[in-house]
Amino acid sequence: MKTKSIIVSVIVIIVIVFFAWRFIRPMNIFIVDDRFAWPVDTSATPAVLGKLSAKECAACHQEFYNEWNTTIHSKAWTEPYFQTDWKFDDSQHSCRLCHTPLDRQQPQKVLGYRDTDKWDPIVEDNPGFDSKLQHEGVTCAACHYRDGKIVGVFGNTNAPHPTKKLEDPNQVCVRCHIVEGDKWDTFFRFPPCGTVAEIKSSRSSSNKVISRGHSGEHLVSDNASLGCVGCHMPLLKRALVKGGKVRETRQHLWRGGHDSKMVKSALTVKFNEQGSTNTDKRQFTLIIENTGAAHYVPTGTPDRHLTIQLRVLDKKDNVLAENINIIRRNVMWRPFIIDLTDTRLPRGQPRSYDIEISDLQKAVSVEAVVRYHLLDEKRRQRIGYENKTPIAYDVFRQKIALHVK
Ligand code: HEC
Ligand code: HEC
Ligand code: HEC
Ligand code: HEC
Ligand code: HEC
Repeated sequence: MKTKSIIVSVIVIIVIVFFAWRFIRPMNIFIVDDRFAWPVDTSATPAVLGKLSAKECAACHQEFYNEWNTTIHSKAWTEPYFQTDWKFDDSQHSCRLCHTPLDRQQPQKVLGYRDTDKWDPIVEDNPGFDSKLQHEGVTCAACHYRDGKIVGVFGNTNAPHPTKKLEDPNQVCVRCHIVEGDKWDTFFRFPPCGTVAEIKSSRSSSNKVISRGHSGEHLVSDNASLGCVGCHMPLLKRALVKGGKVRETRQHLWRGGHDSKMVKSALTVKFNEQGSTNTDKRQFTLIIENTGAAHYVPTGTPDRHLTIQLRVLDKKDNVLAENINIIRRNVMWRPFIIDLTDTRLPRGQPRSYDIEISDLQKAVSVEAVVRYHLLDEKRRQRIGYENKTPIAYDVFRQKIALHVK
């Protein structure tokens, strides 16, 4: 009897301690996959590439520099939202591995990891650290420098720097954008903040790594089918350098959630009346479809979401009825990470939202507004991010008058 109650108490205490730990443990939501666990080793840089800075590349490739300079890649370190979030998250080392991937961009060298999840790196001061290069975030060399060479798709140019032919340009994106995790306590295999996990590399379909490059990326056989470059780097015929041979090049634009035009291009939205106008109830339907992105919309960090607001208005634009829907991934973080719901839009699957008007006396118009949100207002406040640019914008807005002939 006595031993039985001791056993029960011990089990109860273990369970309580376990759950308490789940609530206070550090939130390491992803595994630092070998794909990005090690900074890119730049020790074999040829003299012609100097300090590897984007400005050095610009001396010969000015147009590519100008394009890159307008993108979030060039601000992957300095961008205020990233900086605020990173500091809020205890300035963890792992974030540097994608936001500033070159060894010279990191103040410390990674010698190894103490834990299997690789959240606890063994580090030592890095004498080669270059803070100017750190500020370039995902700089030219982050994508182009591998083992002393510049990778590119041509492989037959007269470049003054050593080059290596890239079989498929999408291979470049894989390191940072397509990461899968498989921690025991994530029901949904949760990758780091910004990856497009919905597009799978062939590792997930065949469940094996085909081969690994020196800098950690997986060299998957069907990279071409990922299509990232096709949609995010539009084609343009031009010379690589002033006076050089005109070739089929890719614009270095990478537009995404920060660009309303890009987000609009992903969506087809229609807002119409359903059925007859003569009944005592009228119904309007908004149909939204992802027709422009191969991955979900929104994609990337789970902060991104869309709101769909349908409203019935009176003659002074007062709201008589309202129907608000949120398109997003909902995640429970504690005690276990569980992907509760995911209402984001897969490609080619239209979804509809209705609003009914019952008070036809007062109702004068009906309005639909679709907005894209980079992050939640609540989260903005929680991490103390003082945004200078809007965190949400309209991607669709239409008002229909009810009583026109
Ligand atoms: C001194 C001038 C110069 C500098 C500096 C320079 N490049 Fe080049 N690069 C060239 C020339 C010339 C070519 C070949 C152009 C051609 O044949 O059309 C080239 C070719 C390339 C290619 C295409 C290679 C291929 O085989 O597809 C890439 C990519 C490239 N450079 C990237 C870079 C990057 C990134 C940097 C900076 C780290 C850089 N270059 C610095 C002159 C330069
Ligand atoms: C070294 C890591 C790395 C590589 C390689 C990389 N990216 Fe990114 N990418 C990032 C990071 C980090 C951000 C987010 C920066 C931020 O917002 O602070 C980003 C942002 C983006 C965005 C979002 C733009 C927006 O408006 O929010 C797009 C689109 C994108 N990348 C496409 C690509 C494509 C296509 C490739 C392959 C050609 C690629 N990236 C390669 C790290 C990388
Ligand atoms: C996010 C990754 C990424 C970054 C950052 C990046 N590039 Fe590229 N770059 C690519 C990819 C992918 C290609 C191959 C595109 C293709 O299929 O032609 C490319 C191609 C090129 C080419 C050859 C022309 C072409 O379009 O194929 C040059 C030159 C070049 N890049 C220069 C630069 C310079 C200079 C910078 C920095 C100012 C830079 N790149 C930054 C991914 C990147
Ligand atoms: C068929 C075209 C298409 C393909 C293929 C595609 N994208 Fe996109 N992508 C888009 C469009 C359109 C958007 C804007 C809508 C949105 O943000 O979801 C976008 C948005 C993004 C964003 C922005 C997310 C954010 O939070 O701001 C990232 C990152 C991104 N794509 C990365 C990728 C990567 C990596 C690949 C390859 C694995 C890829 N995309 C393949 C069309 C495409
Ligand atoms: C595996 C690579 C990877 C790692 C590791 C990583 N990120 Fe990112 N991060 C990305 C990519 C790719 C994007 C862009 C996708 C998008 O725009 O949604 C991004 C976007 C972001 C954004 C959105 C910025 C914006 O402009 O709206 C924030 C904030 C962010 N990351 C914070 C972090 C923090 C904090 C860490 C460390 C805990 C971290 N990231 C680790 C790849 C990574």
